[in-house]
Amino acid sequence: MADIQANYLDNPDNGLWVAEADVNGQQKVVGVLAVMGKRGEEEDGSYGEMFLMVVEFPLRRKTLGSQLMQKALDFCKDQGYSRLVLDVSSAHTAAISLLQKFTFAQTGASNIEIQLPIVFMSLMEHKYM
Ligand SMILES: CC(C)(COP(=O)(O)OP(=O)(O)OC[C@H]1O[C@@H](n2cnc3c(N)ncnc32)[C@H](O)[C@@H]1OP(=O)(O)O)[C@@H](O)C(=O)NCCC(=O)NCCS
Repeated sequence: MADIQANYLDNPDNGLWVAEADVNGQQKVVGVLAVMGKRGEEEDGSYGEMFLMVVEFPLRRKTLGSQLMQKALDFCKDQGYSRLVLDVSSAHTAAISLLQKFTFAQTGASNIEIQLPIVFMSLMEHKYM
């Protein structure tokens, strides 16, 4: 909890969004997406880096991931970030499909041998015009 407070809630460069749903009569957090702002670290200006994107299994494919993504993109645009980037594993096919839907493109790749078989990590980014 302390990290979330310090890293996200107290820092206007960063953003954290949660999706809530009624689960058995109780409001529960069922999805989360987090962005950290990187200011002045690269020649083409400030950008956002996404760290967390997950929706609880039974509530997937009900647009929660898309709604969280839209919040993150709107936030990055408002902050004046030139792009939103993240590292994604080739195993995360649902996430890659979602990212492509939001016009993220692959801009880099590295082969990291986490376990057999090799998992390919891609850097994907959404650029603002
Ligand atoms: C990726 C994730 C957050 C998507 O959340 P979600 O709420 O299911 O997403 P949505 O319902 O908004 O779906 C949006 C799009 O994502 C893609 N998508 C979602 N689930 C998919 C699946 N099982 N297979 C293929 N594409 C999928 C589709 O393009 C979908 O659009 P469509 O429904 O019009 O076809 C969710 O699958 C998840 O938590 N996955 C595990 C964690 C993860 O991989 N995180 C990313 C690490 S970088």
